[in-house]
Amino acid sequence: MRKKVTLITGANGEVGHGLIQTFAQLPDALPVVVIDIRSLDPQVGGMVEDAIIGDILDMPLLDKLMMEYEIDTIYHLAALLSTHSEFRPEAAHRVNVQGTINLLHLAYEQSHWHAHPVKFIFPSSIAVYGLPDVATKESAPPLTEDQYLTPTTMYGCNKLYCEHLGRYYSRYYRQLAAAAHATGVDFRCVRFPGLISATTMPTGGTSDYAPEMIHAAAQGKAYECFVRPDTVIPFMVMPDGIKALLDIARAPREQLTRHVYNVTGFSLSAQEIAHLVREAFASADIAFQGENKRQAIVDTWPAEIDDSAARRDWGWRPDYDAPRAFTEYLIPTIQGQYKVDSRQ
Ligand code: SER
Repeated sequence: MRKKVTLITGANGEVGHGLIQTFAQLPDALPVVVIDIRSLDPQVGGMVEDAIIGDILDMPLLDKLMMEYEIDTIYHLAALLSTHSEFRPEAAHRVNVQGTINLLHLAYEQSHWHAHPVKFIFPSSIAVYGLPDVATKESAPPLTEDQYLTPTTMYGCNKLYCEHLGRYYSRYYRQLAAAAHATGVDFRCVRFPGLISATTMPTGGTSDYAPEMIHAAAQGKAYECFVRPDTVIPFMVMPDGIKALLDIARAPREQLTRHVYNVTGFSLSAQEIAHLVREAFASADIAFQGENKRQAIVDTWPAEIDDSAARRDWGWRPDYDAPRAFTEYLIPTIQGQYKVDSRQ
């Protein structure tokens, strides 16, 4: 008998860390198998059944994984974020799109081996949106899942296409086969705003100015923010990001009316974030750079997104609004992390 497991790809990233730590505390969680191109951080290494160092583009490796385990749920987190993807668009396409197809196919094959659906949990992003100009962004109401889907980044294009691939593999894969059959892929996607973790730093994202500003202040380092002070996008703290992934995975299938759901925490301008950081760290040294090309990317992302479908269908509620995120999670956890006194 093969062991029934949860598979996490890209497990060494920020979301992977949070997810592994959460599963380690859940009494009813399945053993976790992870795959990442880098060796798993020793801090979470002891919490998993198996940590495979490898590439999701390596088909023989995925075949081996399929033979060794009965995979119940896949959290497919591996991706190159938006800024990194602009520097290596073709590589980003390979990892973000071909990597996702490989995992969707693995889910399909697995479900036919063990004859029940494989849940495929996929984080998408506000990068799938592409507002045409700042005036439209400022006047737009919170965007629903289906508005302004004209991304301007490779990452946004990749995520939007993968949302469609997930829907396709769930409902239409092999639709012309002689014998009609359920595909066995149960694709469930949350579109995240910018995620902020108190314990890890993101790499290669364009919403990274928020976590970078907070972590720099906590370490007593100066920070030059690469967007204008008035730039607003939605954010969410990592505990709510993990909660969203677990909640959508647990939701009864019949309650889900769509495959892709917006989720959000709070929207803040870069100036408001700087203000909250200065309140917590009186010596914070934050400046705003002049023109930066990454501004143009953030200007196409919405100031707010509408997550009412997730609230209605699977009871989504973030635990943290902005004040609580800063006073109860970010500041105390970061202070512990860097062992600093905020009143210095
Ligand atoms: N955090 C992502 C990025 O900046 C957007 O979802 O690429």
